[in-house]
Amino acid sequence: MINHRGEEFRELILGITQDLKQTFQTQNDVLTLTASGTGGLEAAIVNTLSPGDRVLALSIGVFGDRFSDIASQFGAEVEKLDFEWGSVVHPEALERKLKRDPKVKAVMVTHNETSTGVTNDLETISQTVKKYDKLLLVDAVSSLSCINLPTDLWGCDIVITASQKGWMSPPGLAMVSISEKGWEAVSKSKMPRYYWDFLKAKSFLEKGQTPWTPAISTLYALSSSLKLMKEEGLANIIERHARVGNRTRRGIDELGLSLFPQEAHSNTVTAVNIPSDIDSSKLLGIMRRKYNIVLAGGQQKLKDKIFRIGHMGWVCEEDIDQIMAALKEALPESKR
Ligand SMILES: Cc1ncc(COP(=O)(O)O)c(C=O)c1O
Repeated sequence: MINHRGEEFRELILGITQDLKQTFQTQNDVLTLTASGTGGLEAAIVNTLSPGDRVLALSIGVFGDRFSDIASQFGAEVEKLDFEWGSVVHPEALERKLKRDPKVKAVMVTHNETSTGVTNDLETISQTVKKYDKLLLVDAVSSLSCINLPTDLWGCDIVITASQKGWMSPPGLAMVSISEKGWEAVSKSKMPRYYWDFLKAKSFLEKGQTPWTPAISTLYALSSSLKLMKEEGLANIIERHARVGNRTRRGIDELGLSLFPQEAHSNTVTAVNIPSDIDSSKLLGIMRRKYNIVLAGGQQKLKDKIFRIGHMGWVCEEDIDQIMAALKEALPESKR
């Protein structure tokens, strides 16, 4: 490994930061933390909130629940607004809450709910949050770099993503953007933090370093991915994910299967209902062993009810065709 306090590292981290800003579509600061996505979510919370702060957590699945849980664990007074799994956050319900409760300081939302394959209408949600001048924290772990998220245009204060998703890199890095309003919140926040301290990370980044030993090898991977992404162009990447998403949904339909979400289908993950005569673990096992294709099962209450096809990052339509061809053969072999 190179010296993470040397010139070579300085060039690496400053180049990455510059490229990340383009994909985040932001002029805000972007910090790269050595963590998984959950570490990034925790960092966002402990840097911007104080114990007792009233927070509105919008949840449409496992990851919305997790974001909310972290804030509760650190002493925020969380009010959770749950929507049925498979559907989106309803902005009218959010607006009703914000109108009724002026004490709310921040709103937390998952842009793309990976557990259900649903993409929230973040543009409308952020407009609503901004109308009431609240802080907006966005979990964009499985959307950013694949699904359009113009951070500045939509006024997203804190946006969190992670290297192993659409960024086509190994796990190990969480990338977080912080707006001016976000920094204001940081200056007032009283939650305990040490490793996650944004102010420390910012001051080290100014000299081309990170406060702690970073995941250098993953940073090299991310730097290479960002070069590929620059070559393809963000608009083309987003368009490719839309095509891949459509192809996946069409393929599922042609197989006679049905999608789990009722609306707002994600272009990075497709959740499919498992027919009652199919044994889900048999299906996933056959797909993995015989076809070398790893699909994910459902999480928590969706266990054995759905399977999920991940199609974010390094993926094209031909990959989807291969998955569909394999599913066509594997499904009849997976009967109960
Ligand atoms: C939307 C979303 N948020 C948060 C996470 C948690 O990220 P990690 O597993 O990297 O901690 C995930 C992981 O799948 C996710 O999809």
